Amino acid sequence: MSKVLITGGCGYVGSHVNKCLSQKGHQTVVLDNLVHGHREFAKWGRLVEMDLGDRAGLEKLLAAEKFDAVLHFAGYIAVGESVREPETYYRNNVGNSLILLAAMRQAGLNRIIFSSTAAVYGDPVQIPLDEGHPLAPINPYGRTKLIIEQALRDFSAAYGLRSAALRYFNAAGAAPGAGIGERHLPETHLIPLVLEAALGKRPNVSVYGADYQTPDGTCLRDYIHVDDLAEAHVLALEYLEQGGGTDCFNLGNGNGFSVQEVISTARKVTGREIKAEITPRREGDAPRLIASSDKAKRVLNWKPKYTGLDEIVRTAWEWHQR
Ligand SMILES: NC(=O)c1ccc[n+]([C@@H]2O[C@H](COP(=O)([O-])OP(=O)(O)OC[C@H]3O[C@@H](n4cnc5c(N)ncnc54)[C@H](O)[C@@H]3O)[C@@H](O)[C@H]2O)c1
Repeated sequence: MSKVLITGGCGYVGSHVNKCLSQKGHQTVVLDNLVHGHREFAKWGRLVEMDLGDRAGLEKLLAAEKFDAVLHFAGYIAVGESVREPETYYRNNVGNSLILLAAMRQAGLNRIIFSSTAAVYGDPVQIPLDEGHPLAPINPYGRTKLIIEQALRDFSAAYGLRSAALRYFNAAGAAPGAGIGERHLPETHLIPLVLEAALGKRPNVSVYGADYQTPDGTCLRDYIHVDDLAEAHVLALEYLEQGGGTDCFNLGNGNGFSVQEVISTARKVTGREIKAEITPRREGDAPRLIASSDKAKRVLNWKPKYTGLDEIVRTAWEWHQR
C-alpha cells in the first residue's frame, strides 16, 4: 500500500480519486488551498490547507511525510477564463506545478500522476483522438497543461522522475452515495448546468450552435464517469509502482453524446422541464471530441464501467438533488 499526496483533493476529480485510493487501502494526504475546493470533500485521509506555491511549506511537508507518489489535480480549469486571464493560469498551472516538481526532486520523490486534458490536442484532425494525435492546444488552459506534460518528459529523462499524464475528456457524474460531486464555481460544464436548470437554479441552458455537421446539429462530446477516472488513477499508480515509464493516456468513454442528447437524457432522468436556448456558436468549439482510450485499456488494464449517458446523468442528478 502506498502513501500519497493528492494536490487539489478537495475538488471534483481529486476527491473521487481520494475516495477510491482510500477504499483500496492507500494512505492519503490532501493538499488544497480551498480556492475552488470544498473542505467537506476531504472525507478520507488528512487535509493540509496550503497553497501549492508555498515552496517552503511544501518542502517541509514532503520531508516529514515520506510519500511514495503524488497525484496532482490542483489547478485552474476554465477555458474561457484562461483566455481572459492567461497570467493567472500560467502562474498556477505552470508556475506552481514547477514548484511541486522542484520540491519533489528535493525530497527524492520520483512518481507523479498528472491531471492533463483532451484540450492538449486542439482541433481534431481525426476522430477518435488517440495519443498520437498532433498536440496543438487552442487556448491558454490547454497550453499550460501541455507545458507541464513536456516538463514531465524532460524531468523523466534528466532526473528519473516517472510520470503518467492522464488526459481526461469530460469528467461527469458522481460517486453514488459518497457525498461528493461536481460543484465548480462558476460552473462551465454542461451536465451540472443542465441539472441546475432542472432544479430551477437557472432559467435555461444555452446550446452554442445547432448547425454543426453532426446528426442533430449540436456538438458531440465524450463524457467519462468520474468513478471510472478514479479507477484509472489507481491503476496508473500501480503502473508506476511496478516500474512503468513516463507516458500519457487518454481517458474517455469512446462514445460521443451531443448537447441535445445530454439535455433530453436529463429531462428523462429528472422528469423535469429543462428549457434550452439555441445561441450562436462559440469560438473554438470543435464539432466532435471523442477519445480512443485503447492505450489505457491495454497498458493499465483499465475497464471503465459506465458506458451509457443515462447512468452517468443519473448519478450526477442524485448528487445535485442534495
Ligand atoms: N473536470 C473535468 O472535466 C476535467 C477535464 C480535464 C482535465 N481536468 C483537470 O483535472 C484537475 C481537477 O479538475 P476538477 O474538475 O476536479 O477541478 P476543481 O476545481 O474541482 O479542483 C481543483 C482543486 O485544486 C485546488 N487548487 C487550485 N489551485 C491550487 C493551488 N495553487 N494550491 C492548492 N490547491 C489548489 C482547488 O481549490 C480545487 O479544490 C484539474 O487539473 C483539471 O485541469 C478536469
